[in-house]
Amino acid sequence: MMRAVYPGSFDPVTNGHVYIAERAAALFDELVVAVLVNASKQGTFSIDERKSMAREALGHLPHVQVLSFEGLLVDFMRQQQSRVIIRGLRALSDFEYEFQLAQMNRQLAPEVETLFIVTEARYSYLSSRSVKEVFHFGGSVQSMVPPGVYRRLREHFPPREFH
Ligand code: PNS
Repeated sequence: MMRAVYPGSFDPVTNGHVYIAERAAALFDELVVAVLVNASKQGTFSIDERKSMAREALGHLPHVQVLSFEGLLVDFMRQQQSRVIIRGLRALSDFEYEFQLAQMNRQLAPEVETLFIVTEARYSYLSSRSVKEVFHFGGSVQSMVPPGVYRRLREHFPPREFH
């Protein structure tokens, strides 16, 4: 039985994340989507909101569970008895940060492998931060996020007439 962990902030989950989770779920028996609880960074949505948006968006995938974790990812990996970290790559600009993260995790836990899944071109410009910014300034993000996220964005930010 192979379990992989897909960690991230997921603040909120986007269609790009859903794509990566779908690809990873097709490769492993189980996939744990792990939402980071970052004590030093509050974020836009609460951890419970992020988890419920991700659960809703990934409900069509049978062997996926959404959990949260605090502290080091490698400790969570051990707790989950998983040796595969999934990360999505959108562009070359992601690479430097991802490379550093993967090498740090390798230093901390040599038995753990980081596996990169390349996103589809139509999601390569997507990030949680840009979705929130576009939405905040009145741009349309309906095609970029799952329906439950779109609904919560509308609840979270003051409504504007062109949403
Ligand atoms: O979606 P993000 O914000 O790019 O995800 C980053 C994440 C959660 C994978 C990374 O910040 C993380 O693993 N944080 C947990 C703390 C940790 O293990 N740090 C050591 C590696 S630098």
